[in-house]
Amino acid sequence: MNVLKTFVVTILALLATAPWAAEPRPAVNLIGRPVPQIESLPEGPFRALVVQAHELSTRTFAVIGPEVKDLRKRYAGNNLACTSCHQAGGTKPFAMPWVGVTASFPQYRGRENQVSTVEERINGCMERSMNGKPLPLDAPEMKAFTTYIAFLSQGVAVGAQIEGAAVLQSAVPNRRADVKAGSAVYDAKCAACHGADGLGKRTGRPGDALGYMFPPLWGPDTFNNGAGMNRLLTTTRFIRQNMPLGASHTATVLDDDEAYDVTAFMLSKPRPIKAHLENDFPARWNKPIDAAFPPYMLGATADQHRYGPFPPLAEKQRRMAEQRKSDMAAAKARAAVGAASTAAGK
Ligand code: HEC
Ligand code: HEC
Repeated sequence: MNVLKTFVVTILALLATAPWAAEPRPAVNLIGRPVPQIESLPEGPFRALVVQAHELSTRTFAVIGPEVKDLRKRYAGNNLACTSCHQAGGTKPFAMPWVGVTASFPQYRGRENQVSTVEERINGCMERSMNGKPLPLDAPEMKAFTTYIAFLSQGVAVGAQIEGAAVLQSAVPNRRADVKAGSAVYDAKCAACHGADGLGKRTGRPGDALGYMFPPLWGPDTFNNGAGMNRLLTTTRFIRQNMPLGASHTATVLDDDEAYDVTAFMLSKPRPIKAHLENDFPARWNKPIDAAFPPYMLGATADQHRYGPFPPLAEKQRRMAEQRKSDMAAAKARAAVGAASTAAGK
């Protein structure tokens, strides 16, 4: 039993660390790399699907949003677009770009503690960022998303190390975030677009499925509390490099303190609730320290997981991982001794 357990844990650890470890990984830098152009595709069914998928990504609310006429197509639960976050049609570095995503899946994911496909990852955003239902794997919209992402990923080798992926891993201040200071930053630098009430600015009227000119940051019509965007570290980094609109990693507007505090202010506001979050990150040791929902494994308060300071939590998590590693090594050694003495006794 113990040996089996050790084995399973070891396999999980291998998956968690280095799925491509055997080979040196090719590197791709998205910064300054030309963005794939739909116009460069020859006319035909592939191009037609990519065009359709671009529309689905940039005007998600009009195709699978909660206000579309066809009730069966109401998969998303809010009126955001995928590109409300995955900016520039999913091509902007450090705004969770989709370029290369096809080359990095299937991939071990801590949230599920299993290997996930691109389709499952898309449904992760459907159920959380879009606060909706998963797309059936054989839905035409799922085919469109995976085709578009594959189109953007052309030329990126499987397993490549991608510079510009996800969000820039910048340092955050070693203190509890200051929600009050964040409120002042919000009024000065965000409210003009997203509204003093954070509810965004609609293109038209509620019910018309035309979405937003400026998307809501909190309230009923935005991402839910299980979304990646509900984590303070992830979102501080997103905002630091990408907001106010027009900011980029080469032209930031906010400093580290402003980004951290304004994000905490935004995430202190009410938003849709995702049921059963306690089932996320079933391998508790790799639960991100800014996933602000129970159970908490590091002996810290809920408040610290929500608002920091984070460096002490990162240190605790590092020690926990080390302990786990040495426990595993010890268990493996015991199992080897046990097996040897069994063999000797025969
Ligand atoms: C509210 C913001 C938001 C919206 C809207 C959103 N996403 Fe995401 N998405 C994220 C964040 C944040 C991450 C990465 C962080 C994480 O994994 O927790 C991510 C990651 C992804 C990834 C994996 C990227 C990688 O580098 O591995 C895919 C694919 C994806 N999203 C697809 C979609 C699709 C398709 C939609 C629309 C149906 C969508 N997302 C809508 C915020 C969003
Ligand atoms: C000039 C208008 C403008 C300003 C100012 C601005 N934003 Fe945005 N924001 C946008 C638009 C537009 C999007 C959707 C992305 C796109 O269309 O490229 C967006 C998207 C977002 C998103 C992801 C989508 C969502 O609904 O959650 C977040 C988070 C965000 N902004 C936060 C902020 C914060 C915090 C500030 C202030 C520091 C800020 N924004 C300032 C226009 C603005």
